[in-house]
Amino acid sequence: MTTASNRLIMPHPLTMVGNDGSLERRLIAQLGPDTVFMMGDNPAHAAMPERPSLLDFFRYRFGAIVRNHLAQSALHAIRAGHSESVVMACLLHDIAMGALIHAEHGYWSAQLVRPYVSAEIAWAIEKHQALRFLPDPAVGYDYPEIYQSFFGQDYVPPPHIRKEAAAARQHPWYMTSRIITLNDVYSFESDETPELGQFEDIIGRNFRQPEEGLGFDGSPVAHMWRTMIWPENFL
Ligand SMILES: [Fe+2]
Ligand SMILES: [Fe+2]
Repeated sequence: MTTASNRLIMPHPLTMVGNDGSLERRLIAQLGPDTVFMMGDNPAHAAMPERPSLLDFFRYRFGAIVRNHLAQSALHAIRAGHSESVVMACLLHDIAMGALIHAEHGYWSAQLVRPYVSAEIAWAIEKHQALRFLPDPAVGYDYPEIYQSFFGQDYVPPPHIRKEAAAARQHPWYMTSRIITLNDVYSFESDETPELGQFEDIIGRNFRQPEEGLGFDGSPVAHMWRTMIWPENFL
């Protein structure tokens, strides 16, 4: 920790791709005995417990829209009578967008949870990103109308996504991922804010929460959880 009273936040490289370095130079020029870069707890965010659980990230880190979207999707799956494992997949399917990243969100989401869930859940989460673009009239899944306003009427997913969707279509776990897309309801279309505590038991049975807390178990993805605990750390 530091006693410096000013802590500057350097934006992530991802948000300033191709920049000319002027912002970095401006921030570095402000450094002094009382002005340093942000490291550790940022008082602007809710404090996290020492051993954070999955729901702590939902409650204290995720944006409201993604938090509700995930909870609504899980609730939708429960109401449709799906298995706990599918409900768990729905609760986690966009988790990377809670407090980490939008781009390639299916892959980031799957990676974040892979050490803690079944291989099938992780696979289904990863593939939903591509399968969202692939209609399947046999199960009543159409290309999402909302994608037309998000990406334009004429948007065509790139070849690697179409290839990924076609391959996932042939996989034995296809329906698990497809069911995620069928329960993928957007929170801004509804003001329902499901109480997160109702998922506690399902999480307990389908998500191996590390005793040390997410971010501190030495897993290959622990650093990704820590990045969400301290999102503005300079290093
Ligand atoms: Fe998604
Ligand atoms: Fe979603």
